[in-house]
Amino acid sequence: MQKFIPVDRLARPEHMVVMRSRQVRDIRDEQNLDRRELPFDEEALRARLHGILTGEIQAMEAAGRTLFDFPDAPWEFQLDMARQVWDESRHTEIFHRLLEYMGGHLGDYIESEILWRCAQADDPAARVAGINRGLEGLACDVFEQLIRIAQRNGDEVIERAVDYVLADEITHVRMGSKWMRKLTEGDPERLRRAQEFQESVDEVFNFRGGRRAREDVTNDNGTLLTIAREARLLAGFTEEEIERLIASSRKSAAY
Ligand SMILES: [Fe+2]
Ligand SMILES: [Fe+2]
Repeated sequence: MQKFIPVDRLARPEHMVVMRSRQVRDIRDEQNLDRRELPFDEEALRARLHGILTGEIQAMEAAGRTLFDFPDAPWEFQLDMARQVWDESRHTEIFHRLLEYMGGHLGDYIESEILWRCAQADDPAARVAGINRGLEGLACDVFEQLIRIAQRNGDEVIERAVDYVLADEITHVRMGSKWMRKLTEGDPERLRRAQEFQESVDEVFNFRGGRRAREDVTNDNGTLLTIAREARLLAGFTEEEIERLIASSRKSAAY
């Protein structure tokens, strides 16, 4: 079986369309549609749940590929990745059900290939830094926001379901923190490369996701993504790393 497979090799039902997010943004611009949806709108919530659902599918596939791509990694690392496949498959089911609960179906919207592209690192330390710490750290921010939106809407189904998933994501980030450090022990150059890969993932989302520090959001109406400090601390991010993330989100806010 081939390693590091390209995004168009992912198995999908025929009615699903996978596209680069940039392409989607260009098409929306061409049609004079807003780039950012309002999160209180039901249609926007459906689109967001669909985006998370396809993200969970790719997270499941990525953890499986990490297991397959690095057969020489320590056994405990492989066990953690196998557990993550199981967790992400449950998340896939949960978000699929939530999407249906909101009246949507798999394939109603475009699937972005962003997570899969972030998975293309040829070192397992960089792979878990980018996916588990970068992308799943972002998932903590997104889920915390979704919980707040559900609370405001008085929707306990979404609030509780997402809270259960968030608990798992915190363990995935923690796993990433553990393995990024363990795999690079005694090799500061390899650690630096892994951290750089994670930072490149973070940058993409600071710029595109409109992510901000909570303190910088004066009127939090849910349109901006704030950094989930508490969840990230639980997940093994250091205060310094969170401050760096905040600093880089401030930098990108200038665009
Ligand atoms: Fe997940
Ligand atoms: Fe995860």
